Amino acid sequence: MTSEIHRRREIDTSRPHPARVYDWLLGGKDNYPIDEAVGERLPVEARTAALQNRQFMHRAAAWLAGQGIDQFLDVGTGIPTEPNLHQIVQEVTPTAKIVYTDNDPIVLAHAEALLISHPAGATDYIEADVRRPEEILEHARNILDFERPIAMSLIALMHFIPDDQDPYDIVRNLLAPLPSGSYLVLSHAASDRYEELAAQVTAEYAKGGIRLGFRSRPEVVRFFDGLELVDPGVVTAPEWVQSTAGPATPEGSGIYAGVARVP
Ligand SMILES: C[S@@+](CC[C@H](N)C(=O)[O-])C[C@H]1O[C@@H](n2cnc3c(N)ncnc32)[C@H](O)[C@@H]1O
Repeated sequence: MTSEIHRRREIDTSRPHPARVYDWLLGGKDNYPIDEAVGERLPVEARTAALQNRQFMHRAAAWLAGQGIDQFLDVGTGIPTEPNLHQIVQEVTPTAKIVYTDNDPIVLAHAEALLISHPAGATDYIEADVRRPEEILEHARNILDFERPIAMSLIALMHFIPDDQDPYDIVRNLLAPLPSGSYLVLSHAASDRYEELAAQVTAEYAKGGIRLGFRSRPEVVRFFDGLELVDPGVVTAPEWVQSTAGPATPEGSGIYAGVARVP
């Protein structure tokens, strides 16, 4: 099942966009020369970070599906890159329902790939800005049952929301209507792991007009306030491994990641 895609906006190829730069970092083809130029100027570690981040999403989604979670609200989805979240989740639970949202028109242009749900389940896409959580929630209610647990994922999204845009209130508002047993899945670029690289990445994005707000570990932990962190807590992306998946790979990473349960 799919539903209508909302509002078509122009794709602006005169300036770089986060979704397209990230696609370039992951080796994708859905980006423009202006995005590639930013990617080329970033330190090579940014490509590793993008992959580590994506792999964290794969592990967290599979783990949550294994816990019986069958409703997902993924905010800041990005350009489709296989496997997408619904493919991971519906492999475990074909009837699972997934709502995707992003504010970039390029993601909307490729959203058809996100809407190829397992016939037993459902996927949907809305073009929406995380800074307007009520719009996202209103739409998600058309597909998801807010009486049952929902996993909300904000993967590599909140570092695009600097402090003056109330990132913590946004996450609190998104979580407010989720029932007990729901989950928050969040990853975030670190300001306190490779400080020089973080400053370099921030400066390169700023040249392209993209504001970044990388955060320290305590600042990332704050997004999980009031929730029950799942082991191993807020760690770097490659370290977020559940015991059944074997030991964590010892890799350096500038991405923090965590999963927590709504009590
Ligand atoms: C680095 S990508 C991460 C994509 C995907 N979540 C992943 O981790 O593989 C960040 C995504 O957040 C989206 N984004 C940035 N600011 C946003 C906002 N204010 N509202 C919604 N999405 C936003 C971008 O368009 C982009 O697709």
